[in-house]
Amino acid sequence: MKISIFGLGYVGAVSLACLARDGHDVIGVDIDPTKLNLIREGKTPVVEEGMVDLMQQVVASGRVTVTDDVRQAVRDSDMSLICVGTPSAPNGSQDQGAVLRIAEDLGAALQDKSDAHVFVFRSTLVPGTVEDTLKPIIERASGKKDGEGFHVCFQPEFLREGSSIRDYDKPPFTVVGANHEDAYTRLEGLFGHLPCRFLRTSVRAAEMMKYCCNNFHALKITFANETARLCHALGVDAFEVMDLVCQDTQLNISKAYLKPGFAFGGSCLPKDLRATSYLAKMHDVELPMLSNILASNRNHVDLAIEQILATGKRKIGFLGLSFKTGTDDLRESPLVTLAEQLIGKGVQLSVYDPEVHLSRLLGANKSFIERHLPHIGEMLQDDIEAVVADSEVLVLGSASPIIREAVVARARPDQHLFDLVGVGSDSGIKAKITGLCW
Ligand SMILES: NC(=O)c1ccc[n+]([C@@H]2O[C@H](COP(=O)([O-])OP(=O)(O)OC[C@H]3O[C@@H](n4cnc5c(N)ncnc54)[C@H](O)[C@@H]3O)[C@@H](O)[C@H]2O)c1
Repeated sequence: MKISIFGLGYVGAVSLACLARDGHDVIGVDIDPTKLNLIREGKTPVVEEGMVDLMQQVVASGRVTVTDDVRQAVRDSDMSLICVGTPSAPNGSQDQGAVLRIAEDLGAALQDKSDAHVFVFRSTLVPGTVEDTLKPIIERASGKKDGEGFHVCFQPEFLREGSSIRDYDKPPFTVVGANHEDAYTRLEGLFGHLPCRFLRTSVRAAEMMKYCCNNFHALKITFANETARLCHALGVDAFEVMDLVCQDTQLNISKAYLKPGFAFGGSCLPKDLRATSYLAKMHDVELPMLSNILASNRNHVDLAIEQILATGKRKIGFLGLSFKTGTDDLRESPLVTLAEQLIGKGVQLSVYDPEVHLSRLLGANKSFIERHLPHIGEMLQDDIEAVVADSEVLVLGSASPIIREAVVARARPDQHLFDLVGVGSDSGIKAKITGLCW
C-alpha cells in the first residue's frame, strides 16, 4: 500500500519504519525539519531499541520518503495515519491544537484527489473527537462527505516506548473503530497479518477504550505500589505478596469484577478496605487510591438514589436486596443502603428477594438488617407478582431467573424499571428501562 504518516514522533516514526520494512511505500510528514532531515539521512528521530538499524535499512530500500507538503503526501498515498501529539493543556484538558490543524490541512489536500482516501487517527483522542470535531473539519475543508470522498476511522496505538518495534509486531490486539466496511477492510489488509485478534468497533468505543487501557495500566501500577508501601511498613515482602496475588487467574488476573454494574458490598470488601486504610494510617502510610475506593462506591449508590427520586414516584418495589444474587447476606448490601436512603425521603417500599426470608436470618446478618431497615418485616413480601403489580417504580437489583421471568411477564409500560444488573436491550421487559449508567 501507499501510506502517508503525519507526525514522526515515537508512534509515527516506528510505524513508518515497520510499514516500510513490511514492503509498503511510506511518506512521512512532520512540521519539524530536523526530524525530516534525520530520516532523509537514514537516521532515527526517536531513541528506540532496533530503530537505528531499521531506519537505515528502510530508507536505503527507497520505500521511505519524507516531506512537509501535506497535499503531496495525501495525493501520493491511499491511506493516512495521523500520529501527531495530543499533550495535556495546563488545565488538564487535551491540547488538540496539532490534530485540529492537521485535519484542516488534510481536508484541503483532499480537494486535489478523486480516489477515496482513508484517514486513520492513531493519536490518542478524547471520545467524540473524530466524529464530532475532525470529520466536520475535513468535510468543510474538502467539500466532500465522509463515506463518499473519504473515510475517517480511529485505531488506538498500543506500543510502549522502549519496546515499540516488538509491540508493533506483537500488539495485544488490533482495534479499529470505523463506520464503513471499506475502512475496516483496508486496515485489515495492513494489520490483519499480526499475531493478534483484529477487533471491529465504533469510532467512539475505540477512542474510549484507549483511555480505559491507559487508566487501567496506571491503576494496576498504583495498586502494586500502594500495596508495596503498606507491605514495607508492615515488614512484609511486597514482591512475594504481589507474586502470590498474580497467581490467581480466576478472580485477580481475569475478567472477573470488570463488568459495569451496581456498587459492591457484602461482608468482606467494605470492612477489609476500611481495615486496610486504618492500618495504613497507624503506620503513617498514605494510600490515596485504596482509601478512596469506598467513597467512589458510595457515589454509585448516590447516583441510583438521585435517578429513582427524580421520577417523583412514591411506590417503589425492590426486586433483590442482598449484596449479590444467590445469597441472603444483607450485610453492607448497597441495596440496603439504597432502600434506607429512599425510605428517609418518604417513599413507600416493598421488597422481594427469593433468598431473603426474615425468619431464617441469623446472627450478624440479622442484626445488620434490624439496625438499617428496622421495618424490613413490613416491606418484605413473598409474592413477587404483588410487588411488581403494586409498584410505580421497580428497582431490579438481582439477576435471579425467578425475578427476571416475573418482570418480563408482569412489568407494564406505565412502570419505570431501574436496572442495576444490566438486563440488556433485548430483555423483553415492557416497563420503561433506565440503566444506572448504561
Ligand atoms: N509515545 C507512546 O508510547 C504512545 C503510545 C500510544 C499512543 N500514543 C499517542 O500517539 C500520539 C503521538 O505520540 P508520540 O509520543 O509519538 O508524540 P510525539 O510528541 O513524540 O510526536 C508528535 C509529532 O507530531 C509532529 N507534529 C505536530 N504537528 C504536526 C503537524 N501539523 N503535521 C505533522 N506533524 C506534526 C511533531 O513535530 C512531532 O514530531 C499521541 O496522541 C499519544 O498520546 C503515544
